[in-house]
Order: sequence, then structure tokens, then C-alpha cells
Amino acid sequence: MTTILDAMLERVSTPKLIAPSPSRAELEQMFRCAVRAPDHGRLRPWRFVVLQGAALEALGSAFEASQPDADEQKRMRLRSMPLRAPMIIVSIARLDWEHKKVPVWEQQVAVGIATQHLQLAAGALGFAAMWRTGDMAESGPVRDYLGLADDEQIIGFLYTGTADGEPKAADLQPLDEIVEYRG
Ligand SMILES: Cc1cc2nc3c(=O)[nH]c(=O)nc-3n(C[C@H](O)[C@H](O)[C@H](O)COP(=O)(O)O)c2cc1C
Repeated sequence: MTTILDAMLERVSTPKLIAPSPSRAELEQMFRCAVRAPDHGRLRPWRFVVLQGAALEALGSAFEASQPDADEQKRMRLRSMPLRAPMIIVSIARLDWEHKKVPVWEQQVAVGIATQHLQLAAGALGFAAMWRTGDMAESGPVRDYLGLADDEQIIGFLYTGTADGEPKAADLQPLDEIVEYRG
């Protein structure tokens, strides 16, 4: 296991992911990290769906159903998109649009942070991941497949598994371009 600092400093997204993916015990550790996300009002606005095996194929069918007018080549591509990893963890926000103190953007950020905690925990356990969204995160058939309620939103598809080959090197943005120290 790596330290949290190493997991953050070395984190990179990995588009090509293969088995193994986290075990149930490892997933539970990751979710325990996810729910440590800061969360204004302690709304706990998150839930997660873990997809593997036949469930990834079912998600592919939902991707395909999202674009019924696509040609066969495109439909095939859509169908195979979820198979780019042995596991997808879907992060879902349950949004309270009427909340008096916590605007929706803060609720979305909280679920984003929980998703990033998941990604970092996966890295610390030796796995790799890539956070994706795109049109499919808003598609009706995908929402139906995942059983989303009207007040729920997909915040991320966290493609998760093991890096196929060496992960790319992390590059550090020059800090003097983005950080200002005062006082
Ligand atoms: C909310 C969110 C949605 C994203 N959606 C996509 C996506 O649909 N497709 C994609 O290629 N990258 C997406 N990314 C970016 C990748 O996860 C990744 O951060 C990016 O490719 C840069 O690589 P790096 O993380 O190694 O710096 C998304 C990131 C976030 C935070």
C-alpha cells in the first residue's frame, strides 16, 4: 500500500484497464474513504453502483440504446465502451434543489470529492482508474438501467482495474503559475 501523498503525487488516469479489479473487501475500504468527503450540511448526497461482468454488457446496451439512429459501427463502439475496464463504479448525486443552505453546486462538488477519494484509494491499493462522463452520463436509457430517480445525477463513471503496461508519468504543473502567496 502507498501513502496518501504518494497516491496523490503519482495519480494519473489510465485509459487501458485490465483485471484484476478491487475485491469486495478493497471496495469497502474505498467506499469508506469516499464517504469521508467534506459535505456541507452532512447531506450525504452520494450513492454508488459497482458494475462488473454482465452488468458492463448491460451498460453497453444502454449506451447503444442512447443513440438509436447511429450506424452499426457507432452502435458497436457504444456497446463496447464500458468494456474498457473490468469494473465501473458509477458515482451518483442525489440532489436537493430546494435546500435552504446548501446550493446544488456544493452537493455536486461533495460527490465529486467522494469520487476522487475513490480514485485515490484505488491508486493507493495498487489499482488504476479513469473518470469519465460524456453524453452517456445524461442518457435516458443509462439512467433507466441504473435506476436513477428524477433528482439524481451521474457524477462519474470511474473505470477501474489494473493498468495495462506502465502508467504514464505524472507531470507537475509549474506552481508559480497557479499559486500566489500573500502576507
Ligand atoms: C467530472 C469529470 C469528467 C470527466 N470526463 C471525461 C470523459 O468523459 N472523457 C475523458 O477522456 N476524460 C474525462 N475526464 C478527465 C480524465 O478523467 C482525466 O483526468 C484526464 O484525461 C487527464 O488525465 P490525468 O488525470 O492523468 O491528468 C473527466 C474528469 C472529470 C473530473
